[in-house]
Amino acid sequence: MVQVVLPNDTNPLGNVLGGRVMHWIDLVGAIVAYRHCHLPVVTASMERLDFHYPIRLGQIAILKAFLIYVGRTSMEVMVEVYADDPPTGTRKSTSTARITYVAIDAQGRPTPVPALRVITEEERRRFDDAKRRREAEGRA
Ligand SMILES: CC(C)(COP(=O)(O)OP(=O)(O)OC[C@H]1O[C@@H](n2cnc3c(N)ncnc32)[C@H](O)[C@@H]1OP(=O)(O)O)[C@@H](O)C(=O)NCCC(=O)NCCS
Repeated sequence: MVQVVLPNDTNPLGNVLGGRVMHWIDLVGAIVAYRHCHLPVVTASMERLDFHYPIRLGQIAILKAFLIYVGRTSMEVMVEVYADDPPTGTRKSTSTARITYVAIDAQGRPTPVPALRVITEEERRRFDDAKRRREAEGRA
């Protein structure tokens, strides 16, 4: 997802508001989960979010999102945020976040989603890490 940073997105210093970045993260993550399960999804949780660098007015925010884990009804999405600076052609990684979405039925109850096909070693590592985190949190 690509966002041009406009004045309405920024604080008086010309940096994107943290809450705006969280909103973009939530949206792009929800799109990924929705495309996977083809069902309405709700946000269940967002993991710790750090802002390493500001994204400035006039820069372009790039959000890359991909599924890392799918349980019975829940889907964990990783979102990486970057700031592109067109005048210099540089890109900085500014944040990463992990968000869990749950697919719901017409009554708002969690409903099963298709399994995730894990193909590469990197996908397998991310999947296993997510599974371990869930087990540690007592959610597996
Ligand atoms: C998310 C929600 C649907 C979960 O409902 P629930 O009845 O507690 O669900 P369950 O305990 O049966 O768990 C269902 C799945 O959600 C996961 N889950 C529940 N709460 C979670 C949390 N806080 N973080 C991560 N995953 C969570 C469970 O691990 C389970 O995953 P699995 O089926 O893949 O094993 C419910 O709490 C809800 O509707 N919350 C409000 C969502 C919302 O409005 N979000 C917008 C932001 S406020």
